[in-house]
Amino acid sequence: MLTALCVRSKAHWGYDADFMRRSVAALRVRSADIALGRVLVAVDGKDRAIGVASVIPEGESADLDLFFVDPPFMGRGMGRVLFEAAVRSARLFGARTLTILADPNAAAFYERMGARFLRNAPSDAIPGRSLPLYEYDITVEAAS
Ligand SMILES: CC(C)(COP(=O)(O)OP(=O)(O)OC[C@H]1O[C@@H](n2cnc3c(N)ncnc32)[C@H](O)[C@@H]1OP(=O)(O)O)[C@@H](O)C(=O)NCCC(=O)NCCS
Repeated sequence: MLTALCVRSKAHWGYDADFMRRSVAALRVRSADIALGRVLVAVDGKDRAIGVASVIPEGESADLDLFFVDPPFMGRGMGRVLFEAAVRSARLFGARTLTILADPNAAAFYERMGARFLRNAPSDAIPGRSLPLYEYDITVEAAS
């Protein structure tokens, strides 16, 4: 159900069926990550999932691996709430920075959150695709 949310959310940008087919493995919410407390789920008043994020600790840094808001709930502040929760989670893991290999359509969102563009880096899902890599300093609060 969470993976389906990620796929719906990614498809919101208008990617074609071939791109979505090649992306699906990277959009999977892994049960091992849930068991390790690495997955955050935003819910509505009826306890239905409306956003999902995963934070993978990697030493001094943490990776924002998944970050998706369900399309009907986009543009209502949920992304910010989920981002702030991901930052808190990374801080609890002992990380000092949060790295984000961003979808280009979401780059301006991460900049709005206060993340810093580092460089372009290879996509882990689509060979040959280059994506903007961001870093967020989690020793400071999220930008408002
Ligand atoms: C990117 C995404 C998470 C943003 O979530 P959201 O709930 O729509 O964002 P919010 O409503 O919390 O927006 C917070 C702020 O960011 C801005 N913002 C949000 N999306 C933006 C975008 N694509 N470009 C520029 N600014 C954006 C908002 O205007 C808002 O600004 P404000 O603080 O001045 O009001 C959401 O669009 C999404 O899930 N997209 C599809 C999946 C995806 O690409 N995820 C990222 C994978 S790396």
